[in-house]
Amino acid sequence: MSQQKTAYRSAIIQIIADPKEVDIEEAYRYFEDGLLVVENGYIVDVGDYIETLAKHNGDMAMVNYQDKIITAGFIDTHIHYPQTGMIASYGEQLLDWLENYTFPEEERFKDPEYAKKVAKIFLNELASNGTTTALVFGTVHKQSVDMFFQEAQRRNLRMICGKVLMDRNAPDYLTDTPECGYNDSKELIEKWHNNGRLSYAVTPRFAPTSTPEQLAMVGQLLQEYPSVYMHTHLSENKQEIEWVKSLFPDREGYLDVYDHYGLLHQRSVFAHGVHLSDCECQRLSDTGSAIAFCPTSNLFLGSGLFDLTRIENFGIRVGMGTDVGAGTSFSLMQTMSEAYKIMQLQQQKLHPIKSLYQATLGGAKALYLDNKIGSLEVGKEADFVVLEPNATTLMKFRMQQTKTLEEKLFVLMSLGDDRTVHATYVYGDLAYKNE
Ligand code: GUN
Ligand code: ZN
Repeated sequence: MSQQKTAYRSAIIQIIADPKEVDIEEAYRYFEDGLLVVENGYIVDVGDYIETLAKHNGDMAMVNYQDKIITAGFIDTHIHYPQTGMIASYGEQLLDWLENYTFPEEERFKDPEYAKKVAKIFLNELASNGTTTALVFGTVHKQSVDMFFQEAQRRNLRMICGKVLMDRNAPDYLTDTPECGYNDSKELIEKWHNNGRLSYAVTPRFAPTSTPEQLAMVGQLLQEYPSVYMHTHLSENKQEIEWVKSLFPDREGYLDVYDHYGLLHQRSVFAHGVHLSDCECQRLSDTGSAIAFCPTSNLFLGSGLFDLTRIENFGIRVGMGTDVGAGTSFSLMQTMSEAYKIMQLQQQKLHPIKSLYQATLGGAKALYLDNKIGSLEVGKEADFVVLEPNATTLMKFRMQQTKTLEEKLFVLMSLGDDRTVHATYVYGDLAYKNE
């Protein structure tokens, strides 16, 4: 960790509130010539360049990013690191996609060397896309999680991960049992949860691949370790929903399966939630659970259109997920660009400030980490990204026609991807530079 106080001069966008709760102008501050001051991994000051510089007595290193834009690091609230190698697999919707592509690739993670290799590739991708925190699926193999956390710790990252629990409706080579799933999860929690910047998520894959006995064990783990996360999938695909109803005929619906076993609480994150009833939405809201909205995945697998406004009107926390490998990009900018189109198809607008909020502070709130990360606020951990608004010839040309920050940001989020990430900083240290 860098000990020396360092100041970064750049345009700075500081998101301060959810645009759904305040007027757009109140949701952010923009410093066209700004200064971000970082020390010992934390943000110690942020503001206008001249004013902020005057408050410090000059004994700090200066880094000049004057033609760039600094924002908080992006937060991905749902992604599968073991699916890095099968992103962009052709032709199927959820259940066949899992069987034909996903499960065979996940089997390879029984080999810790392969897991380690993919963890490195995956974390490099996150860094080059400006993502500094993610909620991550491992595989059923506990070593997959060990390898992931080892590599994340080496890089000082704030990361959340968990071993997949799956004891039925999956190939034998990928299933555990309620008992060994419980024991392995417990061992991993003891080893990694709250170990530095790492946290553990108990991770049943989804209701169809767990027996009632296994889901009961998940509930027990959450009772024993109330501060761990619970991470799973919910109501992504219509066939999946019918399958859940047939597997759990005594339950009222998909969410009620999880609810029955005590899996809904603060720090429960459900990926997708594309097809939820009003009652299910109300229950998610009442329990402080969160949904990960995964636009590129929902389009790629033909799952459906997520209605962000409706979900937010219930007061549910929503973060953004790339859901790689069903999602088609590691970039939260590409993810927001697809979210915009999903909203368009429902006659709604997604404002660029709201997009930036969703990719940063909104994700932090969904994960209950907004006291630590998600915005460029004094006292928070210094995870930030330096964006290059003129990354391509087209972007440079288009940027010349923009008049307002909001317009510029919209172009950036619509056309941007890893080419638009100039540098990524993790806990105050340079983690990636686009050279
Ligand atoms: N539902 C159960 N497993 C998965 C998965 O790996 N990806 C997606 N998108 N949905 C799932
Ligand atoms: Zn997923």
